[in-house]
Amino acid sequence: MSVQTKNPLIRDSFTFGCNKGGVGKSTLIFQFAPAFAQSNPDVNVLVLDLTLTGNTSTMIITHDQMLAVKDQCQRADLRVRASDMLESLRDFAVHAKNRSSWLPNRAWFSKNKFDFADHALRVCEHASSSPDNLFLSVGSYDIRQAVEYDNWSDMVEAWQRTGRSEVDPDSKPWVIFFDTDQNVASPHAQFALRVSRKLVVPVGLSEMDFERCFEQDEIEPGVFHMLRLLHEEASKSGRSDPPCRLHQLIFNRVNKRTNDEVESGGISSPFTPTKEDLAQCGSLADRLYELVLNSPETARLLFHELDETFEEHGRTAGAFKRRYFTAFQNGASNPFNFSQRHGAPFACIADEGTGDSSVVRLPNGTASTFNWGTLRTLRENTTRVLAKLML
Ligand SMILES: Nc1ncnc2c1ncn2[C@@H]1O[C@H](COP(=O)(O)OP(=O)(O)OP(=O)(O)O)[C@@H](O)[C@H]1O
Ligand SMILES: [Mg+2]
Repeated sequence: MSVQTKNPLIRDSFTFGCNKGGVGKSTLIFQFAPAFAQSNPDVNVLVLDLTLTGNTSTMIITHDQMLAVKDQCQRADLRVRASDMLESLRDFAVHAKNRSSWLPNRAWFSKNKFDFADHALRVCEHASSSPDNLFLSVGSYDIRQAVEYDNWSDMVEAWQRTGRSEVDPDSKPWVIFFDTDQNVASPHAQFALRVSRKLVVPVGLSEMDFERCFEQDEIEPGVFHMLRLLHEEASKSGRSDPPCRLHQLIFNRVNKRTNDEVESGGISSPFTPTKEDLAQCGSLADRLYELVLNSPETARLLFHELDETFEEHGRTAGAFKRRYFTAFQNGASNPFNFSQRHGAPFACIADEGTGDSSVVRLPNGTASTFNWGTLRTLRENTTRVLAKLML
């Protein structure tokens, strides 16, 4: 894994964003972050839930646990909401400014510590099957007070400065997953897009919805347009730390024909989709490749490592599609609902190896209505897409 950020506390960071609701942003983070934490014990993984309704939080810990945590936060016994993290960031930066006549003071930062773990709960204390290096900053409506239209750029600066704070030599670097809601122009979504390195866009297979990602409406822009605006703003201001770039598009809820990996027309899928769905993935990917052909300068701004990709694999549609697209299968609703309701991501349900026909059972005895075979396929899909995200 390469170092993708100038902030030395952070090894890598991903915003899951799309202007369309229900495409799987929260579900995929809920499945990927624990799976990644499990297979990478050398890093701390933080899910920073920047949604008002706490979408991925209510999957990672159960709804009841979430209510209890929010209650404790309300009484200020605990400060593990994403809004607490943002407020603390703001204080961190303001404090430094006051002490240094509004100029960033390196000496102050090097003596003071900002620790992401202070504003996140360790998930294994709530969900016993979770790896002990997974942390969650809970989403809530309070985010709206913590980051607003007139201060989000200060918050971005504060985030970058955390990297200059005192680092405990034994602490692990962080890999951060940001969940966002469908309003990509909200200050908190802009914050995520601005501070993370890589944008992951889950999309369904609808042409109309895909076209909406390019929407230039001021109030409800599409995610590609929002990204473009942020990059234009960053280049004008001459900042050295640009916003995230498009790293991976995940066609979600693609219908599966077989479990075999396939590559067709450049689209590499961790399973074989139905013919219709594969053709649809290809045509949506072509739509984005048009942008590369017609507006190469914009494309260079928007895509993560576009030049490097073409340099290495040739300037072809195939190379482009292989690099930026993947697919996640449309699973039956039972495993997804079961997994979400019990805070048990596919990767963390211990495989008892009892054969394909038996049902999956959680340590507390709760039985599912699906079998180990279904679970293994979903887990395999998760592992393969995750491998692509971690390129
Ligand atoms: N691959 C999949 N197979 C089956 N069901 C899925 C899949 N991906 C997501 N879902 C289901 O789709 C619904 C919407 O997913 P999710 O809440 O993750 O979307 P979202 O993009 O986060 O939505 P929002 O913008 O409202 O936050 C959930 O019920 C989830 O279980
Ligand atoms: Mg969501």
